[in-house]
Amino acid sequence: MDISFSGWHPAIEKRRSRRHFDPKSPVAPEVVAALDKVCNQFAPFPHARSRLVTESVENVFKGIIGSYGRVKGAPAFIAFIGDMDDPFVQEKVGYTGEGIILEATALGLGTCWVAGFFRPEAVASLIGVSDRERVLAVTPVGYARQSESWEERSMSRFGRSHNRQPLSKLVRGLPREKWPDWVNVSLEAARLAPSAANRQPWGFDVQDDGITVFVRTGGPEFNVSKRLDCGIAMLHLEVAAIDSGCKGEWEFLSSPQVAKFKIRS
Ligand SMILES: Cc1cc2nc3c(=O)[nH]c(=O)nc-3n(C[C@H](O)[C@H](O)[C@H](O)COP(=O)(O)O)c2cc1C
Repeated sequence: MDISFSGWHPAIEKRRSRRHFDPKSPVAPEVVAALDKVCNQFAPFPHARSRLVTESVENVFKGIIGSYGRVKGAPAFIAFIGDMDDPFVQEKVGYTGEGIILEATALGLGTCWVAGFFRPEAVASLIGVSDRERVLAVTPVGYARQSESWEERSMSRFGRSHNRQPLSKLVRGLPREKWPDWVNVSLEAARLAPSAANRQPWGFDVQDDGITVFVRTGGPEFNVSKRLDCGIAMLHLEVAAIDSGCKGEWEFLSSPQVAKFKIRS
């Protein structure tokens, strides 16, 4: 399946993490089927996959401190799974998973990447994973409660949610006045990507023939790879690039670089 750029680009601005779901708004079977289809079909890399699960959801999520950050009332979740023998597994899972998250957003559903506070063994027992695979993250899916609950608002403060660094702090390389239009639009989209605890670990090096994503920040990873966050930003970058008429390919690079989006000439 190709990137659904016209549906996913507007979803980038609309998406925000939602943790509490409305038990009075069940998801219609045709919407579940549409989401299941995209989980099976949007698999651009052989070593990253997604699975929709509609049972035992409450056993999968745990709170951060007591009940803070706890996911409540979700009718389903999606697991993001990677083959750990692949050196670029984190960015591939981030990229793939964010495609699914944006599709869910476009369908009007709420989501929240959860990489730290869930039970991978409970997920693995529901979906089956091979010896080489690990469940790197999950997201609840469902209709979010109309307004954010007090707990959700506290959670947003905890993660300093939704504030984003300006591009001036994230970008190096070609000066801004020399950027073609697609670069500005793509970097704006990448900047809005979600990241664990909103740490925004990415940086962008603008060159004549493309953009390199790199890990900008040092410090501990808290068990969630910064390359997973960078994979999410890569998907945003490419969605906006294609929507601006610019196609390209990713070349994966070793640390601290992540990957270069090379434009097709
Ligand atoms: C890889 C990743 C892991 C995350 N893990 C958790 C988590 O374990 N628990 C949680 O409540 N939120 C988690 N989040 C959600 C972030 O806190 C949230 O995306 C960030 O604060 C930005 O807010 P926004 O998504 O509303 O834009 C995670 C996000 C990402 C991208």
